[in-house]
Amino acid sequence: MKTKIIAHRGASKQAPENTMPAFELAYHQKADGIETDVQLTKDNIPVLIHDEHLKRTTNGTGYIKDYTFEQLNNFDAGSWFTDKFASTKIISLEEFLIWAKDKALYLNIELKNNKIDYKNLESIVYELIEHYQLLNRTTLSTFNPSSVKRLKSFNKEIEVAFLTSKRNKNLVRYAQELGANALHIKYRLFTPLLVNQCHQAEMAIRVYTVNRLANMKKCFNFDCDGIFTDVPEKALQYREMVDQ
Ligand code: G3P
Ligand code: MG
Repeated sequence: MKTKIIAHRGASKQAPENTMPAFELAYHQKADGIETDVQLTKDNIPVLIHDEHLKRTTNGTGYIKDYTFEQLNNFDAGSWFTDKFASTKIISLEEFLIWAKDKALYLNIELKNNKIDYKNLESIVYELIEHYQLLNRTTLSTFNPSSVKRLKSFNKEIEVAFLTSKRNKNLVRYAQELGANALHIKYRLFTPLLVNQCHQAEMAIRVYTVNRLANMKKCFNFDCDGIFTDVPEKALQYREMVDQ
């Protein structure tokens, strides 16, 4: 089985994370898929940005939840990275889905509702993905266990992943009890045993954030279903070289 190479926040080492330039680059580099993070605006528009706060990746301040989508348009989400990306905008999930619709990409939409439990985020995201008929190649993921359950309650068929960075010897059983179809784990939790346990439970396992060749090698050798990487081009070259 080929381990999928999923661009983490787009090709985020070479372009500002979670923006169109980072997604375009990942697509042109031929990544198998793209992972992105969703927060909710004051007017309930899901937008793609990792942090709850604007500070780290834009020239703004304050929380996403306190701005309307139109107001967010005033901020620059590229200059913090390099001047070359000045005036790059924060985009909505809908804009991203429209862009992805005609491209052969696997999508992982991560709901960022572990710090702020945004009301109705699950249904808003689910309905958009359903509307654009992308459910069959999308995984919805979250660190919030209750959110996994809510997502599965809309539609048993959708793939939902439980995300974790915490060690727990009953992790696979716990994720299964939530109704998750996949486990997305931080690299330091990765063991071949966990991969086997997931596969025996018919769950997929994907690992973040894998940027080093030695770590990629382990994930490829032990048949992880996917890796999230900031450097998809490097991962693709390496996968080709080891002929996985
Ligand atoms: O979805 C995998 C990974 O993105 C989870 O952590 O903080 O990079 O969103 P984070
Ligand atoms: Mg993420």
